[in-house]
Amino acid sequence: MKQKQLIIGNWKMNPRTVLEAQKLFDDIKKEVAVFQGTDVAVCPPFVFLSGLSALNSGKEISLGAQNVSSEEEGACTGEISVGMLKTLSVKFAIIGHSERRAMGETDEMVSKKVVAAVKAGLTAVLCVGERERDHESAFLQILKEQIIASLSGISERQLKNVVIAYEPVWAIGAKAKGVVEPEALLETIIFIRKVLSDLYSQKTAHAMKILYGGSVDEKNAGSFLKEGGANGLLVGRASLNAKKFVEILKIADNI
Ligand code: PGA
Repeated sequence: MKQKQLIIGNWKMNPRTVLEAQKLFDDIKKEVAVFQGTDVAVCPPFVFLSGLSALNSGKEISLGAQNVSSEEEGACTGEISVGMLKTLSVKFAIIGHSERRAMGETDEMVSKKVVAAVKAGLTAVLCVGERERDHESAFLQILKEQIIASLSGISERQLKNVVIAYEPVWAIGAKAKGVVEPEALLETIIFIRKVLSDLYSQKTAHAMKILYGGSVDEKNAGSFLKEGGANGLLVGRASLNAKKFVEILKIADNI
Protein backbone atom coordinates (compact mmCIF):
# COMPACT_ATOMS: atom_id res chain seq x y z
CA MET A 1 0.00 0.00 0.00
CA LYS A 2 1.20 3.48 -0.83
CA GLN A 3 2.49 5.33 2.22
CA LYS A 4 0.63 8.55 2.97
CA GLN A 5 2.58 11.77 2.56
CA LEU A 6 2.87 13.85 5.71
CA ILE A 7 2.86 17.61 5.22
CA ILE A 8 3.49 19.69 8.33
CA GLY A 9 3.29 23.47 8.53
CA ASN A 10 5.68 25.05 11.01
CA TRP A 11 4.25 28.47 11.75
CA LYS A 12 7.23 29.43 13.96
CA MET A 13 6.49 32.71 15.84
CA ASN A 14 3.57 33.62 13.55
CA PRO A 15 0.92 34.95 13.04
CA ARG A 16 0.63 37.93 15.37
CA THR A 17 -2.90 37.47 16.71
CA VAL A 18 -5.36 34.75 17.70
CA LEU A 19 -7.76 35.95 15.03
CA GLU A 20 -5.15 35.69 12.31
CA ALA A 21 -4.23 32.21 13.53
CA GLN A 22 -7.86 31.10 13.45
CA LYS A 23 -8.36 32.53 9.96
CA LEU A 24 -5.27 30.79 8.62
CA PHE A 25 -6.33 27.52 10.25
CA ASP A 26 -9.89 27.79 8.91
CA ASP A 27 -8.71 28.62 5.41
CA ILE A 28 -6.60 25.46 5.38
CA LYS A 29 -9.28 23.34 7.07
CA LYS A 30 -11.87 24.19 4.42
CA GLU A 31 -9.70 22.52 1.80
CA VAL A 32 -8.26 19.45 3.50
CA ALA A 33 -11.22 17.07 3.45
CA VAL A 34 -10.55 16.10 -0.16
CA PHE A 35 -7.02 14.87 0.41
CA GLN A 36 -6.96 11.09 0.69
CA GLY A 37 -3.28 10.34 0.33
CA THR A 38 -1.94 13.08 2.54
CA ASP A 39 -1.86 13.65 6.29
CA VAL A 40 -1.87 17.32 7.20
CA ALA A 41 -0.58 18.92 10.38
CA VAL A 42 0.12 22.45 11.52
CA CYS A 43 2.34 23.52 14.38
CA PRO A 44 1.27 26.94 15.67
CA PRO A 45 2.79 28.76 18.64
CA PHE A 46 1.72 27.20 21.98
CA VAL A 47 -0.66 30.05 22.83
CA PHE A 48 -2.84 29.30 19.81
CA LEU A 49 -3.07 25.53 20.31
CA SER A 50 -6.03 25.58 22.67
CA GLY A 51 -8.19 27.78 20.42
CA LEU A 52 -7.31 25.86 17.30
CA SER A 53 -7.95 22.55 19.03
CA ALA A 54 -11.49 23.78 19.78
CA LEU A 55 -11.99 24.65 16.11
CA ASN A 56 -10.82 21.22 15.05
CA SER A 57 -13.50 18.91 16.40
CA GLY A 58 -13.43 16.75 13.28
CA LYS A 59 -9.63 16.50 13.55
CA GLU A 60 -9.31 17.35 9.86
CA ILE A 61 -5.89 18.77 10.57
CA SER A 62 -3.53 17.30 13.13
CA LEU A 63 -2.04 19.74 15.58
CA GLY A 64 1.60 19.85 16.52
CA ALA A 65 3.76 21.80 18.95
CA GLN A 66 7.04 23.43 17.95
CA ASN A 67 8.86 22.24 21.05
CA VAL A 68 8.18 20.35 24.26
CA SER A 69 9.72 19.96 27.70
CA SER A 70 11.57 16.79 28.59
CA GLU A 71 10.14 17.09 32.12
CA GLU A 72 6.68 15.88 33.11
CA GLU A 73 5.83 18.68 35.55
CA GLY A 74 7.20 21.01 38.16
CA ALA A 75 9.63 23.89 38.45
CA CYS A 76 10.33 24.55 34.77
CA THR A 77 9.37 28.16 34.16
CA GLY A 78 8.23 28.81 30.62
CA GLU A 79 8.10 25.15 29.60
CA ILE A 80 5.18 23.08 28.27
CA SER A 81 4.85 19.38 29.09
CA VAL A 82 3.81 16.50 26.85
CA GLY A 83 0.85 15.89 29.18
CA MET A 84 -0.44 19.42 28.62
CA LEU A 85 -0.18 18.95 24.88
CA LYS A 86 -2.06 15.67 25.08
CA THR A 87 -5.02 17.38 26.77
CA LEU A 88 -5.35 19.56 23.67
CA SER A 89 -5.29 16.53 21.32
CA VAL A 90 -1.90 17.54 20.00
CA LYS A 91 -0.41 14.74 17.92
CA PHE A 92 3.04 15.94 16.87
CA ALA A 93 5.94 17.73 18.52
CA ILE A 94 8.74 19.24 16.47
CA ILE A 95 11.93 18.52 18.38
CA GLY A 96 15.45 19.78 17.77
CA HIS A 97 14.59 22.36 15.11
CA SER A 98 17.77 24.13 14.04
CA GLU A 99 16.41 27.45 15.31
CA ARG A 100 16.14 25.91 18.77
CA ARG A 101 19.52 24.21 18.47
CA ALA A 102 20.91 27.67 17.65
CA MET A 103 19.44 28.86 20.98
CA GLY A 104 21.52 26.22 22.77
CA GLU A 105 19.54 22.99 22.52
CA THR A 106 22.00 20.09 22.51
CA ASP A 107 21.65 16.56 21.13
CA GLU A 108 21.32 15.37 24.72
CA MET A 109 18.39 17.70 25.39
CA VAL A 110 16.85 16.71 22.07
CA SER A 111 17.19 13.04 22.96
CA LYS A 112 15.38 13.54 26.31
CA LYS A 113 12.57 15.43 24.60
CA VAL A 114 12.14 12.72 21.98
CA VAL A 115 11.85 10.12 24.76
CA ALA A 116 9.30 12.24 26.67
CA ALA A 117 7.19 12.81 23.55
CA VAL A 118 7.22 9.19 22.42
CA LYS A 119 6.44 7.84 25.91
CA ALA A 120 3.40 10.09 26.03
CA GLY A 121 2.20 8.81 22.68
CA LEU A 122 3.02 11.92 20.66
CA THR A 123 4.85 11.61 17.37
CA ALA A 124 8.23 13.32 17.58
CA VAL A 125 9.25 15.21 14.45
CA LEU A 126 12.98 15.00 14.98
CA CYS A 127 14.85 17.67 13.00
CA VAL A 128 18.38 17.03 11.84
CA GLY A 129 20.49 18.89 9.33
CA GLU A 130 23.95 20.20 8.57
CA ARG A 131 24.94 23.87 8.76
CA GLU A 132 26.92 23.63 5.53
CA ARG A 133 27.34 21.12 2.74
CA ASP A 134 31.00 20.42 2.02
CA HIS A 135 32.26 18.72 -1.13
CA GLU A 136 33.99 15.95 0.86
CA SER A 137 30.62 14.98 2.37
CA ALA A 138 31.78 15.46 5.96
CA PHE A 139 28.24 16.74 6.59
CA LEU A 140 27.02 13.15 6.42
CA GLN A 141 29.02 12.33 9.53
CA ILE A 142 27.38 15.27 11.30
CA LEU A 143 23.95 13.97 10.33
CA LYS A 144 24.83 10.49 11.49
CA GLU A 145 26.01 11.75 14.88
CA GLN A 146 22.87 13.87 15.31
CA ILE A 147 20.63 10.90 14.54
CA ILE A 148 22.48 8.46 16.78
CA ALA A 149 22.54 10.90 19.71
CA SER A 150 18.95 12.07 19.30
CA LEU A 151 17.55 8.55 19.11
CA SER A 152 19.73 7.11 21.86
CA GLY A 153 16.76 6.53 24.20
CA ILE A 154 14.39 5.14 21.57
CA SER A 155 13.77 1.45 21.04
CA GLU A 156 12.89 -0.12 17.70
CA ARG A 157 9.29 -0.49 18.83
CA GLN A 158 9.08 3.19 19.78
CA LEU A 159 10.45 4.32 16.46
CA LYS A 160 7.00 4.17 14.89
CA ASN A 161 6.29 7.35 16.88
CA VAL A 162 9.22 9.20 15.36
CA VAL A 163 9.41 11.02 12.05
CA ILE A 164 12.68 12.46 10.85
CA ALA A 165 12.72 15.87 9.23
CA TYR A 166 15.89 16.44 7.27
CA GLU A 167 16.37 20.20 7.23
CA PRO A 168 19.71 21.50 5.98
CA VAL A 169 20.24 24.66 8.01
CA TRP A 170 21.60 26.58 5.01
CA ALA A 171 18.34 25.99 3.13
CA ILE A 172 16.00 27.28 5.86
CA GLY A 173 14.32 30.66 6.12
CA ALA A 174 14.49 34.00 4.35
CA LYS A 175 18.31 33.99 4.45
CA ALA A 176 18.62 30.54 2.83
CA LYS A 177 21.57 30.07 0.51
CA GLY A 178 19.42 27.92 -1.78
CA VAL A 179 17.50 24.68 -1.72
CA VAL A 180 18.85 21.19 -1.85
CA GLU A 181 18.78 19.59 -5.31
CA PRO A 182 16.35 16.64 -5.51
CA GLU A 183 19.17 14.19 -6.43
CA ALA A 184 21.21 15.36 -3.45
CA LEU A 185 18.14 15.01 -1.26
CA LEU A 186 17.57 11.46 -2.45
CA GLU A 187 21.19 10.54 -1.64
CA THR A 188 20.88 12.08 1.81
CA ILE A 189 17.62 10.25 2.53
CA ILE A 190 19.21 6.95 1.47
CA PHE A 191 22.10 7.75 3.81
CA ILE A 192 19.70 8.49 6.70
CA ARG A 193 17.92 5.17 6.09
CA LYS A 194 21.28 3.39 6.16
CA VAL A 195 22.08 4.98 9.54
CA LEU A 196 18.66 3.90 10.84
CA SER A 197 19.09 0.44 9.44
CA ASP A 198 22.46 0.07 11.23
CA LEU A 199 20.88 1.29 14.47
CA TYR A 200 17.68 -0.75 14.23
CA SER A 201 16.74 -2.97 11.29
CA GLN A 202 16.36 -2.62 7.57
CA LYS A 203 12.61 -3.16 7.81
CA THR A 204 12.15 -0.41 10.38
CA ALA A 205 14.45 1.96 8.52
CA HIS A 206 12.49 1.39 5.35
CA ALA A 207 9.14 2.04 7.05
CA MET A 208 10.28 5.26 8.68
CA LYS A 209 8.93 8.56 7.38
CA ILE A 210 11.65 11.00 6.37
CA LEU A 211 10.48 14.51 5.56
CA TYR A 212 12.33 17.34 3.89
CA GLY A 213 12.27 20.95 5.11
CA GLY A 214 13.96 24.14 3.96
CA SER A 215 12.43 26.76 1.64
CA VAL A 216 9.69 24.43 0.44
CA ASP A 217 7.10 26.20 -1.70
CA GLU A 218 4.39 25.33 -4.21
CA LYS A 219 6.94 25.38 -7.03
CA ASN A 220 9.54 22.97 -5.64
CA ALA A 221 7.41 20.73 -3.37
CA GLY A 222 6.78 18.11 -6.06
CA SER A 223 10.46 17.63 -6.83
CA PHE A 224 11.33 16.89 -3.18
CA LEU A 225 8.56 14.30 -2.96
CA LYS A 226 9.09 12.69 -6.36
CA GLU A 227 12.75 12.82 -7.37
CA GLY A 228 13.93 13.61 -3.84
CA GLY A 229 12.22 10.59 -2.30
CA ALA A 230 10.89 12.46 0.75
CA ASN A 231 7.81 11.01 2.47
CA GLY A 232 6.56 14.47 3.30
CA LEU A 233 7.54 18.05 3.96
CA LEU A 234 8.09 20.42 6.86
CA VAL A 235 7.02 23.78 5.51
CA GLY A 236 7.91 27.09 7.15
CA ARG A 237 7.15 30.38 5.37
CA ALA A 238 4.85 28.89 2.73
CA SER A 239 2.62 27.41 5.45
CA LEU A 240 1.66 30.93 6.56
CA ASN A 241 -0.14 31.48 3.29
CA ALA A 242 -3.22 29.23 3.13
CA LYS A 243 -3.32 29.32 -0.68
CA LYS A 244 0.32 28.26 -1.04
CA PHE A 245 0.06 25.62 1.67
CA VAL A 246 -3.08 24.12 0.12
CA GLU A 247 -1.31 24.12 -3.25
CA ILE A 248 1.51 22.10 -1.68
CA LEU A 249 -1.06 19.68 -0.20
CA LYS A 250 -2.62 19.20 -3.64
CA ILE A 251 0.77 18.45 -5.16
CA ALA A 252 1.54 15.93 -2.42
CA ASP A 253 -1.84 14.29 -2.77
CA ASN A 254 -1.37 13.79 -6.49
CA ILE A 255 1.89 11.90 -6.14
P1 PGA B 1 11.22 27.58 5.62
O1 PGA B 1 11.35 26.93 7.07
O2 PGA B 1 10.27 26.72 4.83
O3 PGA B 1 10.70 28.96 5.86
O4 PGA B 1 12.60 27.59 5.02
C1 PGA B 1 11.36 25.54 7.24
C2 PGA B 1 11.61 25.17 8.67
O5 PGA B 1 12.40 25.84 9.35
O6 PGA B 1 11.02 24.20 9.19
